[in-house]
Amino acid sequence: MCGIFAITSNRRNDIGKILVECAEKLTYRGYDTVGVATVSQDRIHLRKDKGKFDEVAVKLRLNEMRGSKGIAQLRWATFGAPSKLNAQPHLDCDEDLCAAHNGNIVNFLPLREQYTKEGHTVRSMNDGEICVHAVEKYYDQLGDMVEAIRKGCGDLKGDYAFAAMHKDDNKVYAVKMGSSLFVGIGEGETCVSSDLPSILPVTRQILNIHDGELVILSPEKVEIRRISDGHPIERNPYTSDADIRVAQKGGYPHFMLKEIHEQVSTTRTLFSAIREPYITQFIDALIDAKRVFFVACGSSYHATVVGSYYFNDLANIAAIPVIGGQFNSLYGDSVGNGDVVICVSQSGETKDVIDVVHLCKKKNVKILSIVNVLGSTLTHLSDLYLPMGSGFEISVPATKTYTSQVTLFAFLATLAGQKSEAIKPKAADALINDLQTRLPALIEETISTTTLKARTLAPYLSKFSHFYVLGHGLTHGVALEGALKIKEVCYIVADGMYSSEFKHGPLSIVENGYPIIFTIAPDDAEHIVNHLAEVECRGARIIATGDDHPLLRRYVREEDFLVVPKSSQYLSPILQVIPLQLIAYHLATYKNIDPDYPRNISKTLTVR
Ligand code: M6R
Repeated sequence: MCGIFAITSNRRNDIGKILVECAEKLTYRGYDTVGVATVSQDRIHLRKDKGKFDEVAVKLRLNEMRGSKGIAQLRWATFGAPSKLNAQPHLDCDEDLCAAHNGNIVNFLPLREQYTKEGHTVRSMNDGEICVHAVEKYYDQLGDMVEAIRKGCGDLKGDYAFAAMHKDDNKVYAVKMGSSLFVGIGEGETCVSSDLPSILPVTRQILNIHDGELVILSPEKVEIRRISDGHPIERNPYTSDADIRVAQKGGYPHFMLKEIHEQVSTTRTLFSAIREPYITQFIDALIDAKRVFFVACGSSYHATVVGSYYFNDLANIAAIPVIGGQFNSLYGDSVGNGDVVICVSQSGETKDVIDVVHLCKKKNVKILSIVNVLGSTLTHLSDLYLPMGSGFEISVPATKTYTSQVTLFAFLATLAGQKSEAIKPKAADALINDLQTRLPALIEETISTTTLKARTLAPYLSKFSHFYVLGHGLTHGVALEGALKIKEVCYIVADGMYSSEFKHGPLSIVENGYPIIFTIAPDDAEHIVNHLAEVECRGARIIATGDDHPLLRRYVREEDFLVVPKSSQYLSPILQVIPLQLIAYHLATYKNIDPDYPRNISKTLTVR
């Protein structure tokens, strides 16, 4: 949520150009408002407005802004409505310094009142403005930006990162207090950003910043200080080998479609990203654990739901999937020594998950995690993590990272089952071989055989404001995930449910032509037939994803059956999310919705 990018250079005087190029890559983090501040001719120039990055950038001619340093901010609104006034960056009272933040200042209202009483002109209802006044207050007393920021941070409560600059020097200052922050060190210029891909147009020399640190960027160097006592910190940069093309659509109309197609390769790169001895350490921790909890949010949570079925079926391990925001109140008191918590997160920044980590660390609980963004907060806080190796996921709806998470769970459960002898060695070998070698081609085939049907269903499904996606056993999480995708990008209330629960109430909604999507693992077909029959005899139009099966054919018309290639009970659920992703994608574009940036959503949610 929210993205900040700031740069200081001694080789550019047209800083607007690079600010636009880099900040545009942060679009996925917020598209309620956009703002850019630059320093030129001894004053701060500020342009900002409500709207998406590309619209505002053109309207305000952001790329024409002059100067050799500047800050850009893309906002996902929490405190203060999306409006020009609440857009960031914000200026201080006498307009000689400005700042922009990402995250939340939770004591924003009392501070707003306090600073106003102290004579500050607080113009907006946005908590980011409070960062500027906190710095200004102490700058006016001390005349030193570093000390002012350190003291100002003492006033601020919450999880945040901000970038600030004063018109009278050539520096940019940034702090990390719970939200992500990366620094880039280029030739005659340095920059700081909420994420790494946005830095790549400037440099590949990256410095990770940790919580509680203040960075002072000059064009030629970067200094890190501890906020608490000002102590300097030495850290070496590393060279990022990330592919800059990840932030380009590569011929696809949307990142979402590109990333759906990338699942062919990301299910392969996953296996080169995970390494020994970490895989074995992960498995051992799971086998030895008193209780195993999977903690995640959104799509990552749905992957853990599928994962817990794999662990039950393949390893006889009861893994309890828990929604990040729910964990502390549901298990916070009972969790303790011997329990293992596995956090799953694409971004590694999701606040609801990070809160669980903080509580568990106090209680001596081992934290393992599965993360896509390396260098993220979760990778720093975990005892052990496995990377997903999916590359950057730009589109707000998660697709390829969900599939990698589920694939990794199937793999880990098989290894755990092999080790504990819960499954036969031959069966384990066959499944590992399928996951590592057959899966990419099966995904490719699934995309090519189900795309047309998914697209053809769009006009019919678009007529409904609500419908159901039902799964059973291993496909329960698949149904939840398919329903979330449709809600998120099509603005349709698609409810994901366990299919046997449907008769306990929701069945009354069914009438002639009402759509119900089923996702069915091969061995469950006979069992699910009951559920199909229940809704079919009441007039529902059944749409299904699954392996071809004569029983299913009786209830599902040819055009409504999105058949996945024959694989196995454990591979099929991985494939079955793909037609659901494609339905969501084509339904969104049919409704003229940009699926990459659904309204009100941000890809990285660093607020509680
Ligand atoms: O970065 P995370 O995996 O922790 O994010 C969790 C959710 O916010 C995320 O999966 C969200 O539900 C997706 N936008 C859904 O497509």
